[in-house]
Amino acid sequence: MCACCATSATTTRRKACTALPWQPSSWSTPLTNSATRIWPAERIAQLGGEPDFNPDVLAKRSHTEYVPGGDLLDMIREDLVAERIAVATYAEIVRWLGDGDPTTRRLIERLLAEEEGHADDLRNLLDRLDT
Ligand SMILES: [Fe+2]
Repeated sequence: MCACCATSATTTRRKACTALPWQPSSWSTPLTNSATRIWPAERIAQLGGEPDFNPDVLAKRSHTEYVPGGDLLDMIREDLVAERIAVATYAEIVRWLGDGDPTTRRLIERLLAEEEGHADDLRNLLDRLDT
């Protein structure tokens, strides 16, 4: 999930798409100002936990699964499904947190907003390509 692992995934994604004439709207904002933002791994450490970056563990805990697409439109549709699952997951976490942990809730709400932007971008891209 792009918002959970800091800048590397987003940076890679941006670099891969610089050749595109169209840039998703959620990419128009600057990359994270890490001095003023807290990341999930940082928050886990603040709460006394130890972030686990093992790819096997991450894959097992993921709420989404990899589904290969037959063509570009299929791949974008599958990516949109994954973004919507991320939105639903973050929304559920926000509800679960309630007022119990406002710092974590703000972090998750920020991730939720970013994923909603990604889903909007993919929906708009599909609308442009699937005509
Ligand atoms: Fe995303």
